[in-house]
Amino acid sequence: MKLHGTMGIKDNTLYIGGVSTKELAKKYNTPLYVFDEELIRGNCREYKEFFKVKENKNKIAYAGKAFLTKYMCQLINEEGVYLDVVSGGELYTAHKANFPMERILFHGNNKTLDEIEMGVNLGVGIFVVDNFYELDILEKLCCEKNKVQNIYFRVTPGIDAHTHKYIKTGQIDSKFGFALTNGDFYMAVEKLKDYKNVNLMGIHAHIGSQIFEVSPYEEEVDIMLNLVKKLKEDYNVEIKEVDFGGGIGVYYTENDRPKSIKEFCEKIIEKCDEKCQELNIKVPTLILEPGRSLVANAGSTLYSIGSIKEIKDVRTYVSVDGGMTDNIRPSLYQAGYECAIVDKMNNEEGSHKVTIAGKCCESGDILISNTNIFDIESGDILITTSTGAYGYSMASNYNKIPKNPVVFVNNGEDKLICKRQSYEDLLSLEL
Ligand code: LLP
Repeated sequence: MKLHGTMGIKDNTLYIGGVSTKELAKKYNTPLYVFDEELIRGNCREYKEFFKVKENKNKIAYAGKAFLTKYMCQLINEEGVYLDVVSGGELYTAHKANFPMERILFHGNNKTLDEIEMGVNLGVGIFVVDNFYELDILEKLCCEKNKVQNIYFRVTPGIDAHTHKYIKTGQIDSKFGFALTNGDFYMAVEKLKDYKNVNLMGIHAHIGSQIFEVSPYEEEVDIMLNLVKKLKEDYNVEIKEVDFGGGIGVYYTENDRPKSIKEFCEKIIEKCDEKCQELNIKVPTLILEPGRSLVANAGSTLYSIGSIKEIKDVRTYVSVDGGMTDNIRPSLYQAGYECAIVDKMNNEEGSHKVTIAGKCCESGDILISNTNIFDIESGDILITTSTGAYGYSMASNYNKIPKNPVVFVNNGEDKLICKRQSYEDLLSLEL
């Protein structure tokens, strides 16, 4: 198992942020999400440095869908990062955390009337307008309120990036954005001539998630900057900001070979500089919206091992006290993970090939298939790493299983930032 961030081994036991994971399991019980605060802050700083936030006034906006709590909002605010939200719920979380509204980008392919009104009333910085329906509502609403709302248009650039089909978004057959190829995008730009209460500041595209190659992003840069030039020349519209969407893919297992944040950012900046020179245009303000690459490797999940079922000549199932309710990614995207027993980190004897199963009533509730693990027993604490992105945020109460608490660790201290759901909490909405 690869050690991420501040992970270290002392006396055969895994520590994160200087805190023993074995002690964390004892103190908070399992299953439990543990986040390495230093690693998240370090990732924010790397993105800001290598994407030239200070130097060129570029922006990094954290994609909150990866993992959003009030504490996380406060943390990224302290780090000077913007926030991308996609729903009233995410916006409300940011509002309650006193996140500055002018630093928010509001995404979504079907924002409801209530969500649009909430965004306008709270004063979010940018609406990333996805479609004509939203554009018309926003104009009308802002007109009634005598406000001018800054917007970006979401463009469907027609890029088919290499990733799981559920998480690719740039291809032409997509529910997201105004397509370039069928002229929708240009029609939207035309409409703006009559619209006085929305102000087009920028354009946005997101080609997908967990992408390792930089070339699709370079293709995206080409398309978006060509568009900046075309809008100026053909429509006399000045685009000041260009947002390239989510960040680079991350390491889950040894099959993954991610680029570093540095390399990814530098390549994009370089490509933008070249392209702007070629087009003879001023380099606009550039924006990236990383979610996964800020938090995935910083998060881990601790489980207790219960039943170990050996089916001779078939498979050994090792069951844990969580599963698809706290990590849907293996079942949904066939995502791979690594694991270890937290106080047997250096054991090298008694290797077993086992399958780590969750506790839900579904055969598909498997967290890791056929992994090698050493000296495993019921009662052991198992850790799965890189669960920080799209774990907690996609958690469910299937089988009426309560959601895990979240603990942040840093400099030898642990801090509970989100409590475990109780059975009472589960019933709190029922009348
Ligand atoms: N910006 C937009 C408009 C997005 O739709 C997304 C992700 C991001 C930024 C952040 O992308 P990232 O840096 O995290 O790759 N649940 C899936 C991932 C869905 C991503 C949706 N959009 C998973 O667990 O793999």
